[in-house]
Amino acid sequence: MFFSFDGIDGSGKSTQMDLFCQWLIDDHRREVIRCREPGGTPLGEKVRDILLNQKNIQLEMETEMLLFMASRAQLVREVIRPALNKGKVVVCDRFLLASVVYQGHAGGISPQVIREVGKIATGNTHPDMTFVFHLDPAVAATRVGDATDRIESRDEEFLQKVDAGFRQEVQQGGAAMKSIDGADSIDSIQRQIQSTTEALFEKVRNH
Ligand code: TMP
Repeated sequence: MFFSFDGIDGSGKSTQMDLFCQWLIDDHRREVIRCREPGGTPLGEKVRDILLNQKNIQLEMETEMLLFMASRAQLVREVIRPALNKGKVVVCDRFLLASVVYQGHAGGISPQVIREVGKIATGNTHPDMTFVFHLDPAVAATRVGDATDRIESRDEEFLQKVDAGFRQEVQQGGAAMKSIDGADSIDSIQRQIQSTTEALFEKVRNH
């Protein structure tokens, strides 16, 4: 089974991913493969460095989108699919939804076009469940602090669009997305994630 965590930077998804992976291992005895986007493969980590750290390299929004997709195409084929084929649980920090929101809703490329390009990158491998974290962008910015990468250092207006984009996508996203309020307590969020996952495991068992 394939889970992804997404949402505005600073919304607490990393902490929740740590707890979730430990719970899958301890309570469900599942083998867990954790990965991140961009990154997760030797190529992906190099692309990540260009995308996030090399601020003196000029990147147009279309180039940026395609680099995220290149990292994703490699991750799907090198890590995610082989793990799923062996019955492992994959937990990925961000996936295609991040491109739809950051480069699409916030970056100005048509979300529909990004979904089309995404079909090539993912080869139609999609998360069974995406936990989408929301948080007021002003609060999220204080949590991120000064250590910001290329994307995080974009202005408040960009972050507002990211926030609005995630909210819109969740509304339209159907059953494979679960909205999480990043302002809730760590325990409460983790309980919501675990009960959603239990329900999903139950559904798979009954099929
Ligand atoms: P991270 O900080 O959660 O590791 O994500 C890296 C940054 O890259 C984050 O600011 C979100 C951004 N991002 C995109 O803009 N598009 C994408 O497709 C992905 C995966 C991440």
